[in-house]
Amino acid sequence: MAVTPTREDKFSFGLWTIGYNGSDPFGGPTRAPLDVVHGVEKLAELGAYGLTFHDDDLFAFASTDAERQKQIDRLKQVLADTGLIIPMVTTNLFSAPVFKDGGFTSNDRQVRRFAMRKAMRQLELGVELGAKTFVMWGGREGAEYDSAKDIRSALERYREAVNLFADYVTDKGYDIRFAIEPKPNEPRGDILLPTVGHAMAFISTLERPELFGVNPEVGHEQMAGLNFASGIAQALYQGKLYHIDLNGQRGIKYDQDLAFGHGDLHNAFALVDLLENGGPNGGQSYDGPRHFDYKPSRTEDETGVWDSAAANMRTYLLLKERAAAFRADPEVQEALAAARVPELAQTTLSEGETYDDLLADRASFEDFDPEPYFNGKGFGFVRLQQLATEHLLGAR
Ligand code: GCO
Ligand code: MN
Ligand code: MN
Repeated sequence: MAVTPTREDKFSFGLWTIGYNGSDPFGGPTRAPLDVVHGVEKLAELGAYGLTFHDDDLFAFASTDAERQKQIDRLKQVLADTGLIIPMVTTNLFSAPVFKDGGFTSNDRQVRRFAMRKAMRQLELGVELGAKTFVMWGGREGAEYDSAKDIRSALERYREAVNLFADYVTDKGYDIRFAIEPKPNEPRGDILLPTVGHAMAFISTLERPELFGVNPEVGHEQMAGLNFASGIAQALYQGKLYHIDLNGQRGIKYDQDLAFGHGDLHNAFALVDLLENGGPNGGQSYDGPRHFDYKPSRTEDETGVWDSAAANMRTYLLLKERAAAFRADPEVQEALAAARVPELAQTTLSEGETYDDLLADRASFEDFDPEPYFNGKGFGFVRLQQLATEHLLGAR
């Protein structure tokens, strides 16, 4: 299998990722600004198929209409020249001081109205550029102090905003869906909709839930101590995986945004296996963009930026290759069967069986012997995990 990325792999990058200048709360930039035209040319050369961006990544906050249009025209030209597409766009409702208490959920009503308008303007641009997904990451939608935010009102205002957007795209006939990106904290002490589960529960309260899914990010779930691949499995199960942010994170700490696989590699392996082989008949379970939301480390120069962009894609493809080898290994198939993994797909009740039938079935209770489960009947999960580890290490 080839580990050279091609457009068919659907790899995309945020302009803010390759464009990250290295600044953090303790120090300013370590790299010069990246021009969008150069960025798109490099991504095309490396084998990516898409670029994504916040409004403010392309044209600075409070740009004049002329400045904004100039940047849009430059982007359109380089897209035409390279064949890259814009699969997703998003709005920056977190950098400017006006959003210090959030956008859609700021306590300040004027700010909420401004945030709605800013998002709708970017939504229009996304539709114009052919984007099929509009991501909403509410980094400032939260609080540091319990007394500062009425959470139920904040959720209600969030609903008000996104219900309006759903009406708008429906009335206009736009072919775009929304993906909410959860994160537990940072920059706010606590962020609303902190995990995939919270976001999906919120979506079920919306007026047009079919237009909303999630955009889970590896590091964000791991910051909450959660299993990313498992969260993705539930999002798939509920038909809500509308987009994905791939990166790396090492444990519960600040958002590291490392390159994909440079964190919990085992979970990255499980994730790629799920996305690539977890669908019907062992095919893909998700066919959307494989989007990288990482930050080239502050220590890198421009060479390091492109090396790290390439690393994300190469690691994904290597894991895809390793996962295919894992699935094809007869010993793995035997270990899966021994661990009774396929048995979980069987319904617990037989077809047509009622509770009366179950209650009458002596084999399931009166005559069932739980004793052999002590000191016997092990599942062999560790052996299976070791086989996965050996495939991951290239040892098989
Ligand atoms: C973060 C987030 C962002 C979002 C981006 C798109 O923690 O900084 O992941 O990078 O993904 O704002 O909505
Ligand atoms: Mn992040
Ligand atoms: Mn993200």
